[in-house]
Amino acid sequence: MNLEQAKEKLEKNGQMHVLKYYDELDDAQKQALLTQIEETDFEILKNAKNLGKGSERGKFAPLAATQLSEIEKRRDEFTKAGVEAIKAGKVAACLLAGGMGTRLGSDDPKGMYNIGLTKDVFIFQRIIENLLDVVKATDTWIHLFIMTSEKNHEKTVEFLTEKNFFGYKADKVTFFKQDMAPASDYDGKVYMEEKGRMSTSPNGNAGWFSSMLKAGLDETLHAEGIEWINIFAVDNVLQRICDPCFVGATILAGAEVGSKVVKKNAPNESVGVMCLEDGKPSIVEYYELSQEMMDAKDEAGDPAYNYGVILNYLFNEPALERIARKELPLHVVEKKIPYIDENGEPVKPEKPNGCKFEQLVLDMIHELDSCLPFEVVREHEFAPIKNKTGVDSVESARELCKKNGIEL
Ligand code: UTP
Repeated sequence: MNLEQAKEKLEKNGQMHVLKYYDELDDAQKQALLTQIEETDFEILKNAKNLGKGSERGKFAPLAATQLSEIEKRRDEFTKAGVEAIKAGKVAACLLAGGMGTRLGSDDPKGMYNIGLTKDVFIFQRIIENLLDVVKATDTWIHLFIMTSEKNHEKTVEFLTEKNFFGYKADKVTFFKQDMAPASDYDGKVYMEEKGRMSTSPNGNAGWFSSMLKAGLDETLHAEGIEWINIFAVDNVLQRICDPCFVGATILAGAEVGSKVVKKNAPNESVGVMCLEDGKPSIVEYYELSQEMMDAKDEAGDPAYNYGVILNYLFNEPALERIARKELPLHVVEKKIPYIDENGEPVKPEKPNGCKFEQLVLDMIHELDSCLPFEVVREHEFAPIKNKTGVDSVESARELCKKNGIEL
């Protein structure tokens, strides 16, 4: 794209301020900015005015989870089916590590955070060790895809390479970068993070499959015969990945996606709850639960909306390809966005100053026809690290690791 074309695009979208410092840039910076302008979808910034509004929701109904008691009864059957699929190379893992981890407040990728007390125990290490348990039990290497973003890609790759992937087989690890979206003020004017660069942020945790396709990894999936992809968050240091029992249960249920869920610890706990929305699987956010929904009971007299999601899903690959071209809703999230002020000075805001635009995995699930919510024991599988202290923090995760006999 040349300067004239860039001006035309910016003019049309009310973003001419992007070129304010253009004349001060060197040739390489000019070219980089023109390329960024060419690649940026400014249309999405019009959604800034929808901040906090959310999209219209349909009619919610409960979706029964496969509970621990049922799982115990069928554990051998589920595990056998899961082990068979893993041994046949049909199951891959995909780590979502493209997030910014702003709440944790470290400049490094979240997975590089060291939660050890007497020795090094990095978040990435905990995750890989958990996956290695399954590799050993099934005597099969599972392809591990790792999604990064342009903000943390180099550091992530460098770190894991230096640590020899914590014992994982290097040629069974594939990195890919997720797409970025521009970040703007509340009027939809894109922020500049440098004189020659607009502010961007990763486009949300639903960006993973389209980014995989963009990276051409569908060829790898097809060549290797991968039929199931277990996606999981970087920050849960206890989660089991490609857990054969969960894999088998999802396959035997004939579901297009399996979702690990935990029993909520209070009716108003701030987790998304697995449910049906207009008859299709979905997730209702805790703040969307009406009193009536909180009071609703299932056949056994237990709360009907009782199982929270932990961002650990097993997706059927052909089903993902079927929905890949669908436009997912855009969520407008208020965040702190670093920028340069009128004098060209960098500012790191203390409080939210604008919007990021994200697509969320819950909307992907809603596109699918069937979902199996699969209960896991919270204390054994859910230790998320979002903050340094308090709820879902380094502190709480350390406590839970200790309870599970993990040395820190
Ligand atoms: P969170 O919603 O906790 O976001 O991500 P975050 O960016 O890591 O943290 P904060 O909100 O800035 O503190 C849940 C999971 O989804 C991944 C994260 O890396 C994490 O594993 N994620 C999130 C992505 O991979 N890409 C995104 O665009 C957003």
